[in-house]
Amino acid sequence: MSENMILMDIMRASPVIPVIAIDDIAHAVPLARALVAGGIRVLEITLRTAHGLAAIRAVASQVPDAIVGVGTLTRPDEFVAARDAGAVFGVSPGLTQGLVDAARKSGLPLLPGTMTPSEVMAARDAGFRQLKLFPAVPAGGIGMLNALAGPLGDVMFCPTGGISQETAPKFLACANVACVGGSWLTPKDALKAGDWGRITSLAKAASGLRG
Ligand code: 3PG
Repeated sequence: MSENMILMDIMRASPVIPVIAIDDIAHAVPLARALVAGGIRVLEITLRTAHGLAAIRAVASQVPDAIVGVGTLTRPDEFVAARDAGAVFGVSPGLTQGLVDAARKSGLPLLPGTMTPSEVMAARDAGFRQLKLFPAVPAGGIGMLNALAGPLGDVMFCPTGGISQETAPKFLACANVACVGGSWLTPKDALKAGDWGRITSLAKAASGLRG
């Protein structure tokens, strides 16, 4: 499945995928530029605010070095809209048959959320080899990832949810972790203040996590 190779390249391109929620559309492009300036090129712009699609469109067209994905995909009809806006991959908090079908039909590579061994197995049966572990810390964190690596060692994870700059190295050291996701690179107060320098500093620290 070529989508798996695309996702693996995307996950290897960045140790951290920032989970972005845009409350003010004017923030989208300067935020993306600040992250890219700090070495973080893979961006997950979520559909959890009304500006999600517009933000994807703006960043995809105006920040050529960004690799833009769509996050918080929860409904099948969002796939084509996000792809047409410029997203090159998608992330969902879980997986339904409707999302599997939408991913196939749209051709948008999907990183689906899983939380239990059965969910990992169902996602793998559906053809997905790169998975999000969500919410990572409530799901068991490092202990869960290590436990999954034995019986289900042929999938790679992007754990997301509850991870920080301080805890990310331990996650990244797991054999079955390709990258981590998190919102710590985009603190709401920094966005509100337009403090793009702070965002770039956070991105620089995060991009250095893989040596
Ligand atoms: C989310 O859904 O917002 C992501 O899982 C990010 O989680 P975090 O805020 O704990 O990094």
